[in-house]
Amino acid sequence: MAAISVILAATTLVGVGCGNPTQTNINATSTQPESTTTRTVTAAEVAAHNAMNDCWMIIDGKVYDLTPFISMHPGGPATISQYCGKDGSAGYATKDKPNPQPHSARADALLPQYLVGNLAN
Ligand code: HEM
Repeated sequence: MAAISVILAATTLVGVGCGNPTQTNINATSTQPESTTTRTVTAAEVAAHNAMNDCWMIIDGKVYDLTPFISMHPGGPATISQYCGKDGSAGYATKDKPNPQPHSARADALLPQYLVGNLAN
């Protein structure tokens, strides 16, 4: 009987020991990105970042700092950098093609890492 109690106690302790750190880590990584990116940006502030080496852009009401991405853009730097400091929503939606071509889901998934905040109304 005593032996069974010892085994039960040991199992409970090991369970608590393994469970806590895992839960803490999951919570830390899933809450961080959202809480650090919510900020309101005016169009005037975006307009001040209008260079290839300092490129903010409005896309669908959100403001992105695309400076690190300009040179990596698969469509070339010139197609995207003309919108630095401006609203690039239409360019992003159509790729500026005569017969509009939307960007892929892969392109959409790149955007959040460059988010500065929401455009002010
Ligand atoms: C805002 C103005 C932009 C314009 C006019 C533009 C235009 C283009 C063009 C012409 C291509 C060449 C490929 C093709 O002909 O299909 C392209 C590809 C691509 N662009 Fe852009 N782009 C813009 C912004 C962006 C942004 C902000 C991102 C992501 C952060 C992005 C990500 C990509 C990716 C990943 C591709 C490869 C094809 C795809 O996945 O759709 N582009 N873009």
